[in-house]
Amino acid sequence: MTGPESEGLPVRRAVCPGSFDPITNGHLDIIARATKLYDVVHVAVMINQSKQGLFTVDERMDLIRRVTSEYGNVSVESHHGLLVDFCKERDIPAIVKGLRAVSDFDYELQMAQMNNGLSGVETLFVPTNPTYSFLSSSLVKEVAAWGGDVSHLLPPAVHEALTSRLAERREGK
Ligand code: PNS
Repeated sequence: MTGPESEGLPVRRAVCPGSFDPITNGHLDIIARATKLYDVVHVAVMINQSKQGLFTVDERMDLIRRVTSEYGNVSVESHHGLLVDFCKERDIPAIVKGLRAVSDFDYELQMAQMNNGLSGVETLFVPTNPTYSFLSSSLVKEVAAWGGDVSHLLPPAVHEALTSRLAERREGK
């Protein structure tokens, strides 16, 4: 066994939470950067039953696993409930979030303060790569649904899955 556990050191864990419907290059950039800072990065697909996704939670997790497999220290799970409970159950002290623009900050700050007040978990904000500062899963789905090219905004496996899911929807499946 190698790594911090074998040397009696604590494992540094962080979580990257989100809906990931589907994961974009913007999400992947944040996860990849977090893998360099932490021993284990937990990607939590948070289940929101009031939001009907284009992909099922299992499909989202499968796509995330495929596109993060190269990092070797990413664990992908889903969670129904509070993010702070996901963190508590796994002894995760830090949430890593990407900030795309000042407009993200207001709500992200509220969530960070709420989460810290609930359980003491810290939130670390990573400035999004400017290449992806406009990027969101919703926008990608909208552009793709109208036939726009989003291939440069998604990992190839995700682009393929999105293209076929939208084709199924058009055929009424
Ligand atoms: O990708 P999204 O939809 O912008 O991610 C938002 C998400 C899922 C990270 C956020 O809504 C969340 O943490 N939800 C879990 C439920 C929760 O803990 N709510 C209280 C937040 S202070």
